[in-house]
Amino acid sequence: MSETILKVDHLKTYFDVTKGVFAKKQIVKAVDDVSFEVYKNETFGLVGESGCGKSTLGRTIVKLYEPTDGSIEFEGKDISKIKGKELKAYRKDMQMIFQDPYASLNPRMTVGEIIKEPMKIFNIYDTDEEREARVRELLDIVSLKPDHIRRYPAEFSGGQRQRIGIARALAVNPKFIVCDEPISALDASIQAQVINLLKHIQKEMGISYIFIAHDLGMVKHISDRIGVMYLGHIVECGPSDVVYHTPLHPYTQALLSAIPIPDPDVAKAKQRIVLEGEIPSPINTPAGCPFASRCPRATERCRKETPKPVQLGERSVACFLYEK
Ligand SMILES: Nc1ncnc2c1ncn2[C@@H]1O[C@H](COP(=O)(O)OP(=O)(O)OP(=O)(O)O)[C@@H](O)[C@H]1O
Ligand SMILES: [Mg+2]
Repeated sequence: MSETILKVDHLKTYFDVTKGVFAKKQIVKAVDDVSFEVYKNETFGLVGESGCGKSTLGRTIVKLYEPTDGSIEFEGKDISKIKGKELKAYRKDMQMIFQDPYASLNPRMTVGEIIKEPMKIFNIYDTDEEREARVRELLDIVSLKPDHIRRYPAEFSGGQRQRIGIARALAVNPKFIVCDEPISALDASIQAQVINLLKHIQKEMGISYIFIAHDLGMVKHISDRIGVMYLGHIVECGPSDVVYHTPLHPYTQALLSAIPIPDPDVAKAKQRIVLEGEIPSPINTPAGCPFASRCPRATERCRKETPKPVQLGERSVACFLYEK
């Protein structure tokens, strides 16, 4: 059994979006009772449609958002309520890479200053020479040139900027990185390079990742295990190839049937499930299974009761169809 580094238990992150003092309360349940574990050195993929709560879950784990309820254990310690020094220590271990490499780098700082900044915040080196030397090492790791150190983000392409973002995350020697759609804004030809770089870094430095994306085909490629999210819930979770090749939750099945298959014979044999209706609003969500309103197999019970995850071997699935 692999060693657990991160354990998320019944985590909830709600946003109060009520307008006006006398208005009816409006609560967005962006993350609603989510539990999963990430093992040391592994990549845990988080996949789901836009608005299902992936970024909110990632941001809650790195403590950019306060959880409403539940716990987040990192190396066996609940960090959901830590403050001050403990929080600072956690921030060094737990880094994040963002989707938009244009918005996430300060345009007025040079590449060297951007990568040095976290080293200064966390007092990692005593002198500027040491920091400078480390920046050069990091630039080499992410395949940028030494003379890039004095340039500004505007002089770089999207793929190069994401490399700068990766170098900045690595500057503090983290144990864990939440990668929030790090390649979604990049050209297809550059995406593979950045993925390979992240994989290489993981192997060399032994870092654990949460890798967020909305395309299951791509997440499968990079992840050891996958969690499929729908409307704030993880509906299915397990080893990548198990979830990918034999999806059990009707939502995972629908997500997969939307991926184009290059082989026409396989494509013909595979039944395409078309999701009907819009993804419901996450404001004041009704009781029952989150997927009930779009599920081809929903029953009366699914509209009233929320199914709990059922463990089937290494996989868990939150659907009454698999109740033991
Ligand atoms: N700060 C906030 N205040 C209020 N509502 C928010 C806030 N952040 C996110 N939400 C809402 O929470 C829900 C989940 O959003 P989130 O950004 O986590 O989704 P996502 O899965 O990352 O989507 P995408 O694939 O588009 O990035 C959405 O309905 C969103 O509008
Ligand atoms: Mg997002």
